[in-house]
Formats: sequence, C-alpha cells, structure tokens
Amino acid sequence: MFNPIVVNLLSLFVIRVLAQASPQTIALTARVPQVGKSVRRRALGPTTVPLLDFFRGTDLQWYGNISVGTPPQSVSVVFDTGSSSLEFASTLCGQACSHQTQFDPSKSSTFVDGRTTSSITFSTGVGVDPVVGANYKLTLRSARDTVSVGGLQAGAVNLFLITDQTPAFNIDPFSGIQGMSATAQGFFASLINQGLPSLFSMFLTPNAIGNAEMTIGGIDSTKFKGTPIFASLPAGTSSIWRLTSPRLSVNGKTTSVLNVQRSIIFDSGTSNILFSTSTTEAIYALISPDIKANAAEPGTYGIACSRISSLPAVIDIAFTSQSGVPFNLTIPSSELSVGPFANDPSICQTLINAFDGLDLVGGSVLKHYYSIWDIGQRRMGFAPV
Ligand SMILES: *[C@@H]1O[C@H](CO)[C@@H](O)[C@H](O)[C@H]1NC(C)=O
Ligand SMILES: *[C@@H]1O[C@H](CO)[C@@H](O)[C@H](O)[C@H]1NC(C)=O
Repeated sequence: MFNPIVVNLLSLFVIRVLAQASPQTIALTARVPQVGKSVRRRALGPTTVPLLDFFRGTDLQWYGNISVGTPPQSVSVVFDTGSSSLEFASTLCGQACSHQTQFDPSKSSTFVDGRTTSSITFSTGVGVDPVVGANYKLTLRSARDTVSVGGLQAGAVNLFLITDQTPAFNIDPFSGIQGMSATAQGFFASLINQGLPSLFSMFLTPNAIGNAEMTIGGIDSTKFKGTPIFASLPAGTSSIWRLTSPRLSVNGKTTSVLNVQRSIIFDSGTSNILFSTSTTEAIYALISPDIKANAAEPGTYGIACSRISSLPAVIDIAFTSQSGVPFNLTIPSSELSVGPFANDPSICQTLINAFDGLDLVGGSVLKHYYSIWDIGQRRMGFAPV
C-alpha cells in the first residue's frame, strides 16, 4: 500500500487528513553505565516471522503476526515498505471491521488512548481493478501499547486503531498494516535502539511455493544462492524505499521513452506496477498492440484472457550496484496477467497501471528475489531465489 503523502509528488493525492499524530516518537531509555563495571552492549539477534500470501488468483500481499498489548493479542499485518505507521482493526470499528480479527483495547492493561483521530487514504490497492482513490480509506485513533514481533519485545510504541474503514478492505485476510519504511518507525525503531541491527529481509515467495518470511535484524542466507547485490538509496534521509533506474527494457528492447532515468519506489504492500502513462504505454507497445486501456477503470489496461498467457512480456528494470556494476531486476512474462476484470471477465488486466507522477514496483518483482532492506546503510540488496 502506498500512501503518497510522504512523497508529496502529487497534490491530488495529498488526502491524508492531518489531524493525525505527528511522526512517531519513541521514548528512549538511556543506559546508565554502572560505576566499576564494564558496559557491554548486548545486541539483539535477528528473528524470523513466517508470512502468509494473500492470494486471489494472483499474489497480492504478504502478512504475518505481531503481538500487541498485555496480555498479548495476536494481530495479523501486512509488512508494508510503502508506508510507515502501524494501524489495525479494533473493537471500536465494530461492524465495518466485522471481516477482520479486532484488537480489544479494553483487554490490554498497557493500552494508552492517544485520543487523536485521523484518516489515511491509500492510493494503490492490490489485485484487479482498483488503482486510485478514496475507496481505500481508514479512520484511525492514535494510541500507544506494547508490541512484540517474532518474539522480540519492542515495548510501548505509537500505533493507530482502525475505528472505521471502507468496504474495499473487507476482503483482506489480515487486520492491519505495519509500515516498514526506510527510516525505522515504531517497533523496529525500538528494537534498533535495543541493539538490533537496522535491517530486515523479505522472502516473498509466491503462494504456490509458500514459506514466505521476513527476517528482522538480519539476513536468512539459506533462502538464496550466491551473494546479494546492493544498490544505494538516493542521498538524504527520505523514508521512501527507492532506487534510481537508468532504463527499462521489454523483451530485450528499449525505446527512447524507456531509456530514461527514473526513481523507482519499492512497495511490498502493492502487487501491481505503477508507471506514468507514457512509460506504461511504451512498455505495452513492446508486448502487444492489443493491450488496451480499460475506460471503466481509469489507469488499468487489459487484453483478452485467452491471449494473455502466450504473450512474451519480460521486463528488465536496470539498476547500478554500489560498486558501479549494472544489474537488472527481471519480471517474467508469467506476471503479466493479474486476472479478469470485474466489469468484463473475458478481459484480463495487465500488470502495469498508469499513474502519472509515480514509478512503483511491488510484490510482482519482489517475489522473484530475496530482498534486503538495509536502513542503517541506506541501501537495498537483491539475490535471485
Ligand atoms: C497468526 O496467528 C494465528 C493464531 O493466533 C494463526 O492461526 C496464524 O496462522 C498466524 N499467521 C501467520 C501468518 O503466522
Ligand atoms: C539487462 O537487461 C537488458 C535487456 O534485456 C540487457 O540488454 C542487459 O544486458 C541486461 N543487463 C545485465 C547486467 O544483465
């Protein structure tokens, strides 16, 4: 899920209502060295959280459990590199969240109500049809409670209870979203402060393979072969995971529109790919002239389902490693179809949506690589799986 308020690329999408809490602040407890004793910082070790794949004809999002409150209540969340806060369904949401497991704040002795209400609108949904808009809106109430992830206790962190949501969320098999942005927030900032290495890794395998996982504070080198290749985030302190790409190629060819530098956002909470209209149409022109915009769903494209599986559609996104070595992240042809459109099931939606002002890739790329999200060194690593 991508909440572009943090990008501020398009005023059109600055729709998060800013009655909301300020950026997360985590209370830091100073370590006081005891006189006469040597102080050794005891680092936390990495931990691995199993993930399930939200699959509806195609792989959409990967989610796992965190524990919230005292005694702990299990809350399932999408680990979403495209956003930065933690929000999940609560008993305050009632009927609107009846499809989700709801956290009950009255049963947690460590729960602190922050009383600030806000709303958040995600600009990118998942799966077929939805692209844009207010159909992904959460109403939130700020709070603070203890969170643990993969057995690591983060202590009290700022979070948001979902108090209302639009029906677009009803199909979600999880209760909320844990933002995993490029500046550590929430539980992750707290764990890093306790000595956990400031990186996490994702193994977002397709549904057919299973055993997806996220390792917090480390890398699970049993999940890939060879050495990961790392690329640096742009200079600065942005919370957005993005890398500069010099070029896109389709089936081994590029064009003047595609052979252009762009800054690509990596969003584990989005399945489809978003490129500007000109880029989207230049890519489709190299796949088939019969891929057409679907006027019923602005930004989406499709072609007869009977034809889609035979179309060659290998997309190479070029990057440059920290040591100057070019490499591609490659999306195979099998990703082209995201399934039949709701308004016309004979037409299958194709992977790339037009969305001017945003270049964004997600699960359809990430499931082909073991990915390392290195906050401390401001870089991303990839290894083929
Ligand atoms: C989350 O925990 C529930 C039980 O509380 C379990 O049934 C479910 O499989 C867990 N989900 C994941 C992704 O581990
Ligand atoms: C990346 O993909 C393009 C297009 O297929 C290809 O020409 C190029 O050699 C690839 N680069 C690397 C480093 O593999």
